[in-house]
Amino acid sequence: MNEQHLEPLKPHPEGRSLRAEVHLGRIARNLDRIRSASGGREIWGVVKANAYGHGAVPVGRALEEAGVHGLAVSNLEEGLELRQGGIECPILVLGGLRPEALPAASAEALTIAVVGPEHLADYARILPQHPVRLHLKLDTGMGRFGLLPSELGDCLPDLRRLGAWIEGVMGHFATADDPDQGFAHRQRRIFDACLAQLADAGIHPAQRHHGNSDACLRGLLDQDTHLRPGLALFGLTTIPEGHALGLEPALELVAEVARVKAMPAGATVGYGRTFVAPHPLQIATLACGYADGYRRDLGNRAMVGFQGRTFPVVGRVSMDYLTVALPLDVPIAPGDPMVLYSADPSAPHGLERLAQTLGTIPYELTCALHRRITRRFFP
Ligand SMILES: Cc1ncc(COP(=O)(O)O)c(C=O)c1O
Repeated sequence: MNEQHLEPLKPHPEGRSLRAEVHLGRIARNLDRIRSASGGREIWGVVKANAYGHGAVPVGRALEEAGVHGLAVSNLEEGLELRQGGIECPILVLGGLRPEALPAASAEALTIAVVGPEHLADYARILPQHPVRLHLKLDTGMGRFGLLPSELGDCLPDLRRLGAWIEGVMGHFATADDPDQGFAHRQRRIFDACLAQLADAGIHPAQRHHGNSDACLRGLLDQDTHLRPGLALFGLTTIPEGHALGLEPALELVAEVARVKAMPAGATVGYGRTFVAPHPLQIATLACGYADGYRRDLGNRAMVGFQGRTFPVVGRVSMDYLTVALPLDVPIAPGDPMVLYSADPSAPHGLERLAQTLGTIPYELTCALHRRITRRFFP
């Protein structure tokens, strides 16, 4: 069979008992909070990786309605998905684009980050026929994408030819979450020096943006005209300033109980028999596993919420299932909903706390939520 004819499996809204409930109104309110905290600067809302797992098109539409300047994605495919979903605001492709893909980007009015010197001459050749707006990315210390300051001088002739299309200049902080802002300030000085060099060459882009969520929350804004927050839009943060802003987590992961069974003391649960019932109890099995993005190493470590209380995930998380232990006197039946990821940041099953338990960041947990999970969107 020709691969191109393979359609991705679409979950039926009623077919699965596992759902990510996404509250779009909270995302819009988080946008307002970020805007006010940053002196009303314009926002490129970062919705790459399926809006950090929340659902790119509905989140993109909600942000567009809430007046975001534009949306930022990782690659061409993500940009096209948003356009196909009816989104009309500017869309910035952060990861750059090979010159051959410029016509496709131009046809969908995508804005492209220029992430290195290698394609500048090709861009200058192709853009007159296939115009796109460009944002020049500078590597001020992140060490991945972007022109190094040492490369800028040699690139100026090509950049002058591209000048009409260069709408913005951008950098990216490597340590905005670090209380020690020394390196962030160094990155800023490098950015400013590059902007001055561009200005001397007659290149005066209208937009300047260096800041992600944490840069905004920490006030690392300087002369930036725009900001590029992602995580904070979803109400999540890894720094105290985020909590002070009152961000509202937008996502809850909810699974209906598939089966309940009473177990005697000494019974074991799951692969490897890593949980042994210390006394008689009941085990609720939920149809959510590591294939859905619920991490295997949460087994015997995480809690889930049920009717205002929390209960432990016991045994190993398997591909499609996990198991929760409850006392025998808790009334519970198949179909009852349990909350795996809570929108309450202080709950033990809040995303930030679960991420801490795992020694990771909340980004990794939400981005991992598989597309097979039904997303339900609330205003
Ligand atoms: C280039 C760029 N800008 C902005 C962001 C948004 O960062 P955050 O989610 O920390 O706000 C990211 C996220 O990885 C990014 O790669």
